[in-house]
Amino acid sequence: MTTPVLALEGVRKEFGGVVAIERIDLELHAGEIVALVGDNGAGKSTLVKIIAGIHPPTSGRIMMDGSPISFPNPRAAQEHGIQVVYQDLALADQQPVYMNMFLGSELVTGPFRRLNRKRMIAETETLVRELDVRIPSAKATIRELSGGQRQGVAIARATHRARKLVLMDEPTAALGVAETMRVEAIIRSLKERALAILLISHSLDQVFRLADRICVLRHGVQIGVKRSSETSSNEIVAMITGLA
Ligand SMILES: Nc1ncnc2c1ncn2[C@@H]1O[C@H](COP(=O)(O)OP(=O)(O)O)[C@@H](O)[C@H]1O
Ligand SMILES: [Mg+2]
Repeated sequence: MTTPVLALEGVRKEFGGVVAIERIDLELHAGEIVALVGDNGAGKSTLVKIIAGIHPPTSGRIMMDGSPISFPNPRAAQEHGIQVVYQDLALADQQPVYMNMFLGSELVTGPFRRLNRKRMIAETETLVRELDVRIPSAKATIRELSGGQRQGVAIARATHRARKLVLMDEPTAALGVAETMRVEAIIRSLKERALAILLISHSLDQVFRLADRICVLRHGVQIGVKRSSETSSNEIVAMITGLA
């Protein structure tokens, strides 16, 4: 067995005495997609925020590449190669794709530290081609793009910055069928880059199309983790709802 990229050991989270996550034990491996499923309020987004350095766990520990680690803030998680794709995407609508790709870490050149647009455009084009994100151009502004294309840009940006792990909270919730398929193809290509992926999705069809393993939460309790190839939609629904 290889050492997991990330391991959650007995992670618990309370908000002012209210238990949002009772206890989670979960390992994420390089090149693996793990789906996190559960009804509203199950604790999925809270778990993402713990891994992303937004909330500290109340107890338990996070291991990265076999060593305990804590993320006092989101920057610390980012510095350890973790990126999150949120539902609202956090893209700058008025800016071109290539500027969004480098937002906050723009490439500069020369003694006057001018923006190195040429290199940002070239790097964006390479990444967009590798991930097969179909956009008209790296110079297109975000507001010219469709929802699916924007989601593709947000995922490409996360991929560009993540060295270890990408967390996705409902990446296709706002998309149509064809766009969802495109984004799923992009998510699949992240596996080939040996990233670990934690995917929150309400679509069990999507979960079964993408995930290697499925982790089920109910009211903050980890009900179980199943290999997708060894379970069924019916079983996962029963685990989510508690109704057999
Ligand atoms: N910042 C917060 N303060 C207090 N309670 C919170 C906070 N964030 C989440 N919760 C509570 O934690 C529980 C899990 O929420 P959440 O992680 O958003 O669930 P999910 O993403 O699965 O729908 C809910 O009961 C929610 O009200
Ligand atoms: Mg949520």
